[in-house]
Amino acid sequence: MKAEDVDDLAWIKSMMKQELDLRPPSLAQFGKNSIIIRSDSGKPTAHMTVSNRWQGYEINSLFVDPAHRGEGLSHALLSKLKQNRLFCYTRDSRLQSALAKAGYSRAVFPGSIATLNLILTRSTMFAWMFLTLDFKRIFHQIRHLSKYKLYMKINKVTD
Ligand SMILES: CC(C)(COP(=O)(O)OP(=O)(O)OC[C@H]1O[C@@H](n2cnc3c(N)ncnc32)[C@H](O)[C@@H]1OP(=O)(O)O)[C@@H](O)C(=O)NCCC(=O)NCCS
Repeated sequence: MKAEDVDDLAWIKSMMKQELDLRPPSLAQFGKNSIIIRSDSGKPTAHMTVSNRWQGYEINSLFVDPAHRGEGLSHALLSKLKQNRLFCYTRDSRLQSALAKAGYSRAVFPGSIATLNLILTRSTMFAWMFLTLDFKRIFHQIRHLSKYKLYMKINKVTD
């Protein structure tokens, strides 16, 4: 891993540690499905990852560095996604607004195959949080479970 990738991963983990709506920092990834936006000086300012859910891609770990919130970076992140079938669960009104502006609509069901994937991956994630004693995050996410809203976008495939 390159030195800048190590720095990026450390920054991602520090953001995830602060934001209890996100997955635990110990599961942070920085790979080909991750997007980072940087300031003019090269410092990372915004991040998201998309995960293949077998029936489309889930946007997760989307955050903006607190020093750069309110600058429109959530719009900038979403504009970089080109996948055909995308969805996102969030309870953050700023992100909900950005998703709606990017053409996502409220939905209740991401599809049976995507749901199967989500059941498996979320159960594993909760088991992991339990094993790593991340109870604060578990209670936070369970307490707010009913507030997470699903947004979906199905892009037209062009030949
Ligand atoms: C949610 C988050 C990604 C938004 O990013 P951001 O770059 O600050 O948001 P933007 O500047 O692009 O603004 C998005 C919208 O929220 C509005 N907004 C920005 N700051 C706001 C505030 N303090 N209060 C209310 N609305 C606000 C903006 O006006 C904008 O509205 P628009 O869609 O009409 O333009 C960022 O606040 C964050 O990282 N939160 C913590 C992590 C998190 O909760 N992630 C989502 C979990 S999946």
